[in-house]
Amino acid sequence: MGMYKVMVFGWVVLCTGSVFAQHDHSHGATAADPRVAVEFPTPMQAHILENMRDHLLAVSQIQEAIGKSEYDQAAKIAEDRLGMTALKTHGAYENSKYMPKGMQEVGTQMHRNASKFAIAIQNASATGDIKPAMLALGATTQACVACHAGYRLK
Ligand code: HEC
Repeated sequence: MGMYKVMVFGWVVLCTGSVFAQHDHSHGATAADPRVAVEFPTPMQAHILENMRDHLLAVSQIQEAIGKSEYDQAAKIAEDRLGMTALKTHGAYENSKYMPKGMQEVGTQMHRNASKFAIAIQNASATGDIKPAMLALGATTQACVACHAGYRLK
């Protein structure tokens, strides 16, 4: 239900973006950029982007681990780098003070779904069925998409 909200929000923002883009060839991207610009203290910005690049690396390493049937490894990467554990170790609490509420919620969705994935992929070792885990991983990356559609750094 939380995820539903996030997805609808993401679509609304994406659709608005494409309508604007069609009519705005001359004014530059920022004039029509519908994303909310969020102001973090300058020293935090580089750290956030570095963390983001690690998020993407983690997703690709998770996919690789699944492909090699290394489910425990996939679970560990997801929990430590994207899940509720990452929320604590990456100073996300400090970051979240600067975030609008909607952005915080999408971030929480990402952490929760990554932890759900970590459990589901460990279950797959016993059941042989990776579909529930893949759905949780999909919900995790949908949170990436929703946040990127709605927000940018100032
Ligand atoms: C709560 C919001 C939020 C979530 C969730 C989120 N991001 Fe980001 N991400 C951002 C913002 C804000 C930027 C900066 C975008 C800008 O200013 O144009 C960013 C930028 C990035 C970048 C570019 C980094 C750079 O060096 O410029 C990558 C890669 C990225 N995110 C990957 C991910 C991945 C993968 C996920 C999900 C696993 C994710 N992000 C989840 C907010 C988020």
